[in-house]
Amino acid sequence: MLTNLQAQPEDKIMALMAAYRADPRENKIDLGVGVYKNAAGQTPVMRAIKAAEQQLWEAETTKSYTGLAGDPAYGRALSGLVLGKSVEAERLALAAQPGGTGAIHQAAELIKAANPEATVWLSAPTWPNHPAILRHVGLAMGEYRYFDNATRGVDFDGMIEDIKAGAKPGDVVLLHGCCHNPTGANLTLPQWSELIALMQALGLIPLIDIAYQGFGDGLDEDAAATRLVASAMPETLIAASCSKNFGIYRERTGLLMAISEKADQTALTQQNLTSLNRLNFSFPPDHGARLVTMILEDDALRADWMAELEEVRLGMLGLREQLARELRERSGSDRFGFIAEHRGMFSRLGATPEQVAKMRDDHGIYMVGDSRLNIAGLNQTTVPILAQAIAEAGV
Ligand code: LMR
Repeated sequence: MLTNLQAQPEDKIMALMAAYRADPRENKIDLGVGVYKNAAGQTPVMRAIKAAEQQLWEAETTKSYTGLAGDPAYGRALSGLVLGKSVEAERLALAAQPGGTGAIHQAAELIKAANPEATVWLSAPTWPNHPAILRHVGLAMGEYRYFDNATRGVDFDGMIEDIKAGAKPGDVVLLHGCCHNPTGANLTLPQWSELIALMQALGLIPLIDIAYQGFGDGLDEDAAATRLVASAMPETLIAASCSKNFGIYRERTGLLMAISEKADQTALTQQNLTSLNRLNFSFPPDHGARLVTMILEDDALRADWMAELEEVRLGMLGLREQLARELRERSGSDRFGFIAEHRGMFSRLGATPEQVAKMRDDHGIYMVGDSRLNIAGLNQTTVPILAQAIAEAGV
């Protein structure tokens, strides 16, 4: 039987991680996978997480199962962080998921169950696991223009044009709530409003992937677009991740939120979400979810977590500004100014695959082949090295 298996396409971010590990050079620089690193190159456990873990160790009396949709307190706490007061609780169905990836996968299954004919529209480009998961679940996909290679900003007219021309009522539009991955280029709030009007007019359903809340302009600022969409659209799906903003990558802590048009639909939506959990993995992991709940519900832990997250955010902004400055000096132009304008962990540099390979060969700098670089993989010492490599590669 197993001899019938076909080789599966490689995930390019995972392949890059392996190539980086295998490189023996000591001065290599990892700008690949989206993991935050501090100036010492470490991905620390956040202070509030450590404190919550200690409290949990003392207080926890059982490892028995939680609910199939996870602990309701986790759902309430994380949906509150993402949605604020933008949606009535009665319209909200929630299910804890193993990470943001789990939430995206479960959203795809929910769409398949509700409307197998739906096409899911993706930004060009998007996180490579989006199309991979949708293909695996068996949903049709379409693409809308998103990144303008000339300005390194959003091609908003192209985006609207493509959605208008291609999407049919009942289709789903996958959107990045903030900190677009892989480009770092984001819509403005007036553009989000325009997009909402279009989705309403065409009868489209937004699926928002929000994996970097707090990494862009701040916790509330980064959730503003998601809240705007959720409060205006009849139905919205939201996949949230705590991997980055709580730094608990390996704990697999995510949440799928499904907002129904009317409160009397919510029980059925919830029952479907719960059933999908049972079919896919039964009970979701709880350790990370519990830590997140403890932090969000405790004033002191929450304040400390917010303060550390803000340090992380400002650190990345500082690195963006430093890199843009170094490149301005080397290129004698402002054409890399977009790096300081982008938000989140990533920026798409706009380099060719050959230029990306040259930076890797000559300097041991690893970025994804489409020239996505993880800003958090840099520090004040490595920024000039990267700037020099970019200049030498002729980007
Ligand atoms: C990334 O885009 O690098 C992260 O979201 C990690 C991953 O799973 O790909």
